Amino acid sequence: MKKILLTGANGLLGQKLVDLLTKQPNVELIATARGENRLPFSDGYTYRAMDITDRQQVLDVIGDVRPDVVIHGAAMTDVDKCEVQKDACWAQNVHAVEYIIEACKAANAFLVHVSTDFIFDGAAGPYDETAEANPISFYGWSKQAGESAVRHSDIRWAIARTVLVYGIAHDMSRSNIILWVKKSLEDGKNIKVVTDQWRSPTLAEDLAMGCFLIADQEAEGIFNISGKEVLTPYEMAIQTADYFNLDKSLITQADASTFTQVARRPPRTGFILDKAQTVLGYKPHSFSEGIAVLAGQLK
Ligand SMILES: NC(=O)c1ccc[n+]([C@@H]2O[C@H](COP(=O)([O-])OP(=O)(O)OC[C@H]3O[C@@H](n4cnc5c(N)ncnc54)[C@H](OP(=O)(O)O)[C@@H]3O)[C@@H](O)[C@H]2O)c1
Repeated sequence: MKKILLTGANGLLGQKLVDLLTKQPNVELIATARGENRLPFSDGYTYRAMDITDRQQVLDVIGDVRPDVVIHGAAMTDVDKCEVQKDACWAQNVHAVEYIIEACKAANAFLVHVSTDFIFDGAAGPYDETAEANPISFYGWSKQAGESAVRHSDIRWAIARTVLVYGIAHDMSRSNIILWVKKSLEDGKNIKVVTDQWRSPTLAEDLAMGCFLIADQEAEGIFNISGKEVLTPYEMAIQTADYFNLDKSLITQADASTFTQVARRPPRTGFILDKAQTVLGYKPHSFSEGIAVLAGQLK
């Protein structure tokens, strides 16, 4: 039996991990999040309230549970909010990671830390695990600093880096490109979609599986865990319209410069997945298969 403690259980990744881990016969799951349990079901796991910015609470909960593995899925993930609320961003994305490392060390737990393509400047994607980080947003800086704390720690660790995660989760207002394109075209609305950004969009279930494979094998090091195709948002929109048989003429091509956003975005990221595929046996869905998974969940 492997005891896995998860942070950020209410988030998109967190919810998918709760679904996946509660189905594993050899896993005992302890789900943690801020405040009350907001998950839609309570069977198959134990819930503990844990605010990751509260050092004592992190040390107490992890020290009490003594998990074999901690999967750290919680973070401040709103890139524009991080640019404005820098102290809150640093507390959640850097100091919290330091507390989790300290607690993992005391409990001799293996840490799976989740990170992002936004640690790169986006000049030369797709990236492999050895590429040099050079963040261009405060969120990216904070996530890089979190990674650095993990990499320079003396615990056993893995970093799962991911890109543009999409999925449907309980009680979340957050949309994603597929739902946005589908709704807009169904409403007959014209939409402008960017042609000069590249990402490897990741089905949330695939990211959860990648984190589980790492945790299960306690595979050390950095792993790229994303979708397998590098696409522009425009290409994602066209594939979505095709899948749902919607009117593609409503989709107009646009440059990223036509949109004003608080934080800068890296133009070309996307990941090379060879390491995760070979070492972990990670097998992500294609983007069109991911659309089909979401479509099934909408029914
Ligand atoms: N989504 C993406 O496109 C994307 C891309 C690359 C990397 N990532 C990385 O993937 C990981 C998971 O992201 P996600 O998409 O699942 O994000 P998410 O849906 O925003 O979930 C993040 C969760 O972290 C929790 N959290 C924040 N501060 C906390 C605190 N002080 N104590 C406890 N929990 C706290 C939030 O809790 P509340 O629900 O209470 O607010 C939220 O449930 C993150 O490390 C993120 O940086 C995401």
